[in-house]
Amino acid sequence: MFVLGIESSCDDMAASVVDDSGLVLSSVVSSQDDIHGLYGGIVPELASRRHIETIVPVVEEALKRAGITIDDVGAMAVTRGPGLVGSILIGLSFVKAVSFARSIPFVGVNHLDAHALSAFLKDGAEDKTPEFPFVSLVVSGGHTMLSLVEGYDKFKLLGQTRDDAAGEAFDKVAKLLGLGYPGGKPIDDLAKKGDAKYIHYKRATIKKYNLEFSFSGLKTGVLNTVKSLEEEGALTDEAKADIAASFQESVVDVLVKKALWALDKTDCDRLVVAGGVACNSRLRAKLKAATDKEGIALFIPKPAYCSDNGAMIALLGLRLFEEGLSIGSFETNALPNSDEF
Ligand code: KG4
Ligand code: ZN
Repeated sequence: MFVLGIESSCDDMAASVVDDSGLVLSSVVSSQDDIHGLYGGIVPELASRRHIETIVPVVEEALKRAGITIDDVGAMAVTRGPGLVGSILIGLSFVKAVSFARSIPFVGVNHLDAHALSAFLKDGAEDKTPEFPFVSLVVSGGHTMLSLVEGYDKFKLLGQTRDDAAGEAFDKVAKLLGLGYPGGKPIDDLAKKGDAKYIHYKRATIKKYNLEFSFSGLKTGVLNTVKSLEEEGALTDEAKADIAASFQESVVDVLVKKALWALDKTDCDRLVVAGGVACNSRLRAKLKAATDKEGIALFIPKPAYCSDNGAMIALLGLRLFEEGLSIGSFETNALPNSDEF
């Protein structure tokens, strides 16, 4: 069976076709960085307006690249939330309309669960995928979340951020350093040229074995460094690289430490890391080293499946549909807040 997945919860419009083995046949993403970059953050009204323009061409391209037509699609999956309500409604209304016109069933899915399950996506039959249960660390622009995942619809929240999400911290620090939006990739690149020991920013672990996160203090720490260097006329490109590296090291250390604590606490030896921040090269390297040392099986999808994509939505929708766990109807509504699920 072919499943068409559509993701429009934030600023990317994405569509993908996945088959029932989890093999990705196409994954198309239309980014809106050109619009929101001008404002240094997402402007919700502009995001939904652009989604209206891009949804049809993006879906058509995904079907074309997969070599199928809409008549070959056995089910559709679409993000219900969390996210921006105006953006979610574009994808959801589109899917409901196609479902009505073509009699194709659909499933509305949780975007964060889909990130955690993106480790099941395959580009080839041989690709290694995890088994349940596993600990998932979802690190994105809006969320930082540790969960114990025991099944496609069995998530136990272990801890999340009390303030800023990890990606949000990257984006805000990038803004302070004049690196543009979104800021994760530019910081990752710049940090490679800097000294991570330049400043030791506090690692906000709260207390041992606590699985909640806090990144707002770190952001203020960077702000103070930037201000004092500016006053001294010493905010050089070299200093910016050192700040980027020091900031990144602090975020990465906390994420790695808490992921290991979560594994320890749940007595689990499988870790999945996903979400846009899981593209970070330093995080990937440190997670690999730490999990190798502890004998933990680590699964981090390739960057294209870590950041927002339609394939993870298709995969989760497919499994929920196959196992009879969920089915959409015309009453299926957007759930913009994560606590509504
Ligand atoms: O999962 P995602 O694509 O969208 C959300 O659901 O939020 O994550 C986007 C976030 C942004 O904050 C972006 O700056 C961050 O992921 N990001 C990165 C990197 N690439 C993207 N953060 C750190 N390092 C990266 N290489
Ligand atoms: Zn996301």
